[in-house]
Amino acid sequence: MVKERLKKYRRWNRGQIGKFITIFALNILLIAGILAGSIFLNGIGYNAVEPDFIDYFTKSPGSQQFVYLMIIIVLVMAVTFIYLIFENRDKIKQPKDVEMIFLILEISLLCNYFAGRYINIYFRPLALAGLLTLLLVNRRSAVFVNIVSSLLTFLMDVFTNANFTGTVSANAQYSSLVIGFATGIIGIYLIDGVGARIKVFGRGLTMCIPVLICLVLLEQTNLLRFPERIVAGASSAILSVVLFMAILPVFEWLFKKLTNYRLEELTEHSAPLIKRMIEEAPGTFNHSLVVSNLAESCAIAIGEDALLARCAAYYHDMGKLRQPEFFKENQQDGHNPHNDLTPELSANIVRAHAKDGYDIVKKYGLPQEIADICLQHHGTMPMMFFYAKAKQFKDGGDVDVEKFSYAGPKPQTKIAAIMMIADAGEAAVRSMKDRSREKVDELLRKLINERMQLRQFEDCDITMKELNIIRNTIANSLTGVYHSRIEYPKVNLEEIKTEESE
Ligand SMILES: [Fe+2]
Ligand SMILES: [Fe+2]
Repeated sequence: MVKERLKKYRRWNRGQIGKFITIFALNILLIAGILAGSIFLNGIGYNAVEPDFIDYFTKSPGSQQFVYLMIIIVLVMAVTFIYLIFENRDKIKQPKDVEMIFLILEISLLCNYFAGRYINIYFRPLALAGLLTLLLVNRRSAVFVNIVSSLLTFLMDVFTNANFTGTVSANAQYSSLVIGFATGIIGIYLIDGVGARIKVFGRGLTMCIPVLICLVLLEQTNLLRFPERIVAGASSAILSVVLFMAILPVFEWLFKKLTNYRLEELTEHSAPLIKRMIEEAPGTFNHSLVVSNLAESCAIAIGEDALLARCAAYYHDMGKLRQPEFFKENQQDGHNPHNDLTPELSANIVRAHAKDGYDIVKKYGLPQEIADICLQHHGTMPMMFFYAKAKQFKDGGDVDVEKFSYAGPKPQTKIAAIMMIADAGEAAVRSMKDRSREKVDELLRKLINERMQLRQFEDCDITMKELNIIRNTIANSLTGVYHSRIEYPKVNLEEIKTEESE
């Protein structure tokens, strides 16, 4: 078990480990700067009797206490990253993910300091770090980062007030630690999985309850300031949510992270590229809609990210926007421009939609995960229709199959594999006359076998069991989608092959 984890850890190369150490060292310095700054502000602003800032750092006990504080912080941060890297290796993929966690903690620390110092000690966004980590990494990391954030705030409160009359009373320091710990964790569980950003505000109000319970229990001795503290405490939960909603898009953009909110926004019909697709390639849009339902069901069935699968399906054929009329689903007037082209030229045009999709999606600033699926959804599959046509032209002579194959790469993730099967399955089943459960299942079985024979799934860790689940899910969904239609025009086998390869 430990060996396996170490093996995963070794996926970082030397350069990345070097970067990780540099980022770690620089950020520890930054945290030291934040703490020194808060000592400066507390000392100069509050206590005129206290010697100046330089004295604090050159004479003991101030300097000793600061060194002690920094050692504690290095230890806390080292343990944090040991935990995150070993437990969430798939989420902490690159050194920039480490930078992101540091940035979350630093921003939270700064917000907690300034809100506590200049507004009210109980009006601090103590749940902010946990909430940001929840959306940008996952729930498990969020719970841990929330604990670390509460601990860092507590250390900052204790040490930056150590030599002064203090802006934070001892009671308030302990209360903040408990409130941060409690609201952060409750907030993480309340907000996890909430689809729309607007609903988060509603849930944020519920976060006031644990703050109020803590305050009532911890602050009952100071009756004079009780009402003021209750109002500040209750508002702090709302402040956490407001700052979280304001800062999250910046992190999404800065670290190119795909959150559920971003995925929801990308699948709205008003999203710029979706709008273009509806107007310029309505046939492809309808195809993508059906594929998105299939991909989402398959992702749920094998425990993958359903929202990512749904969103990727919306965008997988975006490359067809370049020349929509060359794809069957958009040929409403019955004219097929491929009739006037050589099979080689036709294959080039159809092949290009994977790379074009990648380029368009990147140009519009969409996340890498979506762009990769555009590129991988046909893998290196041959376009059988054009290959057969070329062979016919050469009277059965030799034709290089590679010239009639997609450029790849093959699917690298389970979601890309789902997309490959759902995409081909939808197109093939749409062209079938008899859509009974048995026939659909038989076709899907053939389609998956072909892809397995052509080793399309060798770069992703999908299992046979998962492929069977995917086949069953698609067969159930497609039988449901198409069963009510009665009469369809006759389509010959060649056309079915075209659909499979496009
Ligand atoms: Fe495609
Ligand atoms: Fe497609």
